Amino acid sequence: MSSLAVVGAQWGDEGKGKLVDYLTSQADFVVRFQGGNNAGHTLVVDGVTTKLSLVPSGILHEATCCLLGAGVVVNPEVFIQEVNGLKKAGVRVDPSRLVIDRDAHLILDYHIEIDKAREEMRGKDKIGTTGRGIGPCYEDRAQRVGVRFAELRLLSELKPRLQKLVEHKNRYLVDLLGAESPVDFDSLWSKLENISEILSPYIGDVSHLLNRARLQEKKIVFEGAQGTLLDQTFGTVPFVTSSNTISGAITTGCGVGPKTVDYVLGVAKAYCTRVGSGPFPTELEGETSDYLREKGSEFGTVTNRPRRCGWFDAVAMKRAVGLNGLDSLVITKLDVLSGLEDLKVCIKYKIDGKEIEEYPSLSSELEKVEPEYITLDGWSEDITSVRKWHELPPAARLYISTLSEILGIPVSIVSVGAERESTLFSRSAKFVKNFMMSV
Ligand code: IMP
Repeated sequence: MSSLAVVGAQWGDEGKGKLVDYLTSQADFVVRFQGGNNAGHTLVVDGVTTKLSLVPSGILHEATCCLLGAGVVVNPEVFIQEVNGLKKAGVRVDPSRLVIDRDAHLILDYHIEIDKAREEMRGKDKIGTTGRGIGPCYEDRAQRVGVRFAELRLLSELKPRLQKLVEHKNRYLVDLLGAESPVDFDSLWSKLENISEILSPYIGDVSHLLNRARLQEKKIVFEGAQGTLLDQTFGTVPFVTSSNTISGAITTGCGVGPKTVDYVLGVAKAYCTRVGSGPFPTELEGETSDYLREKGSEFGTVTNRPRRCGWFDAVAMKRAVGLNGLDSLVITKLDVLSGLEDLKVCIKYKIDGKEIEEYPSLSSELEKVEPEYITLDGWSEDITSVRKWHELPPAARLYISTLSEILGIPVSIVSVGAERESTLFSRSAKFVKNFMMSV
């Protein structure tokens, strides 16, 4: 058993990056399988902060090879910027340890312009996208008109096709979406020629690399982006991202079989946050919300928007357990709850006073939900310097064991700070600990 998936169990921003960085210290491969630079990971290593949105967090570990599967949508300029930034920081980045799948799609200027213009047009009904062109790029993939990295190897074939495509996109942008200016093909093309030269060495066959790695019993970490409740199919549609964010997306996003994933780790904050619009049953307003936002630095890594904050939602989390087939849970940012007298956990949803059995599918239904809570004692101690599970205050341990009991899966890891060392393992962390041991 040598592969492990890390997926977000809430609305993204659960702290997956830190965990993946921690786990990949012993991994041979770390692989992104969906999303693009709408994701943002902040890593703090030896006091130095690194922000990444495309390059997998494992890049900071010399021996780890980082892959972007075919399911990822890649803004090539952002990718190049990240690579240059890492090189400047002294990280060894080259095609022997960073590969983009040839079937991954490129996010181009018109995707970004369309994303922004559409949000503008939606006005108060906007989704609150990150404006990175993610949705329009996945739409092109589904329409079979998108541009794949493999095409950068044959620019003469791509040029006439792209020229027509840009004409079409410009008509949509200007005539239908009311954008002020069209995308200039010539400047887009000269950028692409340059990009092709820089990125060609990084293009490869991720499916092949992974299937070979599996035969060689290499250790693989699949790194999810966003979170379960933002899943394009099962999330709070339409306030979701445009990719499948659940563990099932690993197979289609990397070109591997379902049995490739041995263990699925779900990551959740000790409370809930959400950026962008959409239903959020346990959302708080006022003092407690401000407390969580300030103490937890709940501002988007990508857009710097203040995050909406609320209590832990065990109803939504139970759904995440099933949708991902979670084996255990990682609870992050437990330290942020220190100092709150009472802690609430939502255990049921009611509509018009009646408990609902089925998780609502329509966002309008979810908006109407009345959460029912249990209340647990908080703790006052600062726990950021705790390094062992049993050193946690009894109320904190009770909080964790209650979540585990309600959800029916173990909590294997708790995180009490941004640093690697503030990661505590429970007795249920056997798989993860074995994975972490070098071979
Ligand atoms: P998009 O992915 O940019 O299309 O945005 C769609 C929705 O997903 C918006 O509500 C975004 O705020 C949200 N979203 C996308 N990526 C992330 C993420 O990495 N963390 C949290 N929310 C995200």
